[in-house]
Amino acid sequence: MRYFLTIYVLVVVAVVSIAGFRGDKSRKTPIEIFPDMDRQPKLHPQSHNQFFEDGLASRKPVQGSVARESNFSSDTYSSGKDGENFVNAMPLEPSQKMLERGKQCYTIYCAPCHGAVGDGKGITTQYGMVAVANFHDKRLLDMPDGQIFHTIGYGKGLMLGYSAQISVEDRWAIVAYIRALQTARLGFPEDLSEADLKQFPGFKPQLSEEVESDEETSKFDPFDDDAGESDPFGSDSADDFGAFEEF
Ligand code: HEC
Repeated sequence: MRYFLTIYVLVVVAVVSIAGFRGDKSRKTPIEIFPDMDRQPKLHPQSHNQFFEDGLASRKPVQGSVARESNFSSDTYSSGKDGENFVNAMPLEPSQKMLERGKQCYTIYCAPCHGAVGDGKGITTQYGMVAVANFHDKRLLDMPDGQIFHTIGYGKGLMLGYSAQISVEDRWAIVAYIRALQTARLGFPEDLSEADLKQFPGFKPQLSEEVESDEETSKFDPFDDDAGESDPFGSDSADDFGAFEEF
């Protein structure tokens, strides 16, 4: 019984001394059995740090980063729309620099499917991608700039959107480049110099008059003659589909 009392008192003292002071404030470093990575070498945001040359711990995003949440604005520049409707002409003045950038982005992101010249016959069509839009179709020639811009960002049908990869500015640059591809394909005889015309003796300058006389009905009528050829659902794409089945 004596031993029991002694042990009992000791246990009470031990329990009180270990558990009884939990939560009290102390200047002493607590005993940590499992530190749970409480302390680790790391950079604190917005604070000073010796590691980088400019002495700041916070880094700037790398050049060309596309912000995830800044492009959902409703202005024409970010949406391609004026109210409910797509804008016909892009809100930027196209420049040589813009076209060069557009070409660069187009070659990276669009050419694999739409082809380097925009005819919808990119390399992926040989591996089963069907019905890729041809930018030289009348429908796409007539499509407002804003709608092409929107398609790049949000996709259409089989095509996924590229808003996470292509910045708003670059999307407009691509639109400008697509317009350049389209214009280059339409090519009017007036665009050629005397020297060019000599180089292509078989070229028929009469086409220019036909174009002018047709202008009242539609801006792009000369293209209609070729419509069968460039129809993505024409006989060509049936062949593509055969290739897909083999593949
Ligand atoms: C993976 C292949 C692929 C890539 C890459 C791709 N597209 Fe497309 N695109 C398609 C297909 C397929 C369609 C036809 C979609 C449909 O009508 O179902 C299409 C349709 C379009 C259309 C017509 C939309 C409409 O309203 O009919 C435009 C404009 C377009 N693409 C622009 C672009 C641009 C610009 C890029 C580059 C940023 C691009 N696409 C990249 C496959 C692609």
